[in-house]
Amino acid sequence: MKKILVTGGLGFIGSHICVSLIEKNYSICIIDSLINSSEDNLLSIKKICNLSNNFLEDRITFFKGDIKNKRFLKHIFKKAIDDKKPIEAVIHLAGLKSVNESTEEPLTYWETNVVGTLNLLEAMQIYNCKNIVFSSSATIYRPTINELLTENSDLGPISPYGTTKLTIEKMLEDLAKSKKNDLNIINLRYFNPVGAHISGLLGENPKGKPNNLFPILLKVASGEYKKLSIFGADWPTHDGTCIRDYIHVMDLAEAHISALNFILNSSSVFINLNIGTGIGKSVLEVVETFMKVNKCEFEYSFVSRRQGDSPYLVADNRLALSTLNWKPQKSLNDMCIDAWKWKITSKNKFK
Ligand code: WQD
Repeated sequence: MKKILVTGGLGFIGSHICVSLIEKNYSICIIDSLINSSEDNLLSIKKICNLSNNFLEDRITFFKGDIKNKRFLKHIFKKAIDDKKPIEAVIHLAGLKSVNESTEEPLTYWETNVVGTLNLLEAMQIYNCKNIVFSSSATIYRPTINELLTENSDLGPISPYGTTKLTIEKMLEDLAKSKKNDLNIINLRYFNPVGAHISGLLGENPKGKPNNLFPILLKVASGEYKKLSIFGADWPTHDGTCIRDYIHVMDLAEAHISALNFILNSSSVFINLNIGTGIGKSVLEVVETFMKVNKCEFEYSFVSRRQGDSPYLVADNRLALSTLNWKPQKSLNDMCIDAWKWKITSKNKFK
């Protein structure tokens, strides 16, 4: 049973990837600082995967810690070797991820995302771990008005968050080009991951004030927030609101399984892949779809544009489809239904 290290594995995306990894018979080691996640997700992963206690030690271990801590990272790799279950690959998600917040705290983003990744890569080199799937982002691209983005589209992040993701890709590219290279590296450029596991036991639950559309929309629909503010109605799009490529988090998780299979059966691979559906939806279309499929209504109003936003971010995902033999299965309807089910389930859980 191959052992995979998932950094940031208790976060929104990481926890869903962990469910898919266990279901595909991998053994996983999760590290997470819990800065934007909760240990409740560990219980949910185990519950969804029906991991009874006698299998636990073999299949899933969790260590609280930060990728900024070099000693902690080295300990994780060394312990796995000492336990005779070396880490065969890393799925690297740990990092700060709010476009908007990064414009207010750029140095925090540089330290956590870039220095943290440098620490991880050094630990991987010391302990001879050759495979990494990196959680990159569509925010590294130069904004376009209405063109689908390919992996060769112009790069030009407009937020510190996007700049840190591009910097990490460049670090990995230099590593891949280095003489001693026998690493396998895949950069998965996420578009907008949303939705929740169909069980309603896992979903997007950022700590503190959410920045992203779906967690805020769920708070408005559940009455926690009075109304949704839509950032800008004067964008150059069909209805004036920004267009994004929303992808169900379980489709994203499956893309990681395919990427892992790809690199574990390759040698000296370096590839960037757009992980999106290729379908753009405006903020207003998301709001209308959510209300329709969940038979609910809520207030929204148009306010000024948000710093760091761009009008249109939609993937040309053909390279990922062909390279990974992967295809997104879920629609925006599914994303809205599953996200709402999670919200209702988690509200009831804490009643
Ligand atoms: C989506 C749209 C907002 C909140 C995200 C992640 C980032 C990266 C890319 C992976 C925008 C609008 C939002 C609100 C609104 N993911 N909006 N009112 O900015 O595309 O970035 O995807 O790397 O990590 O943050 O996502 O959900 O913040 O915004 O009108 O209250 O919704 O203007 O057009 P974004 P988002």
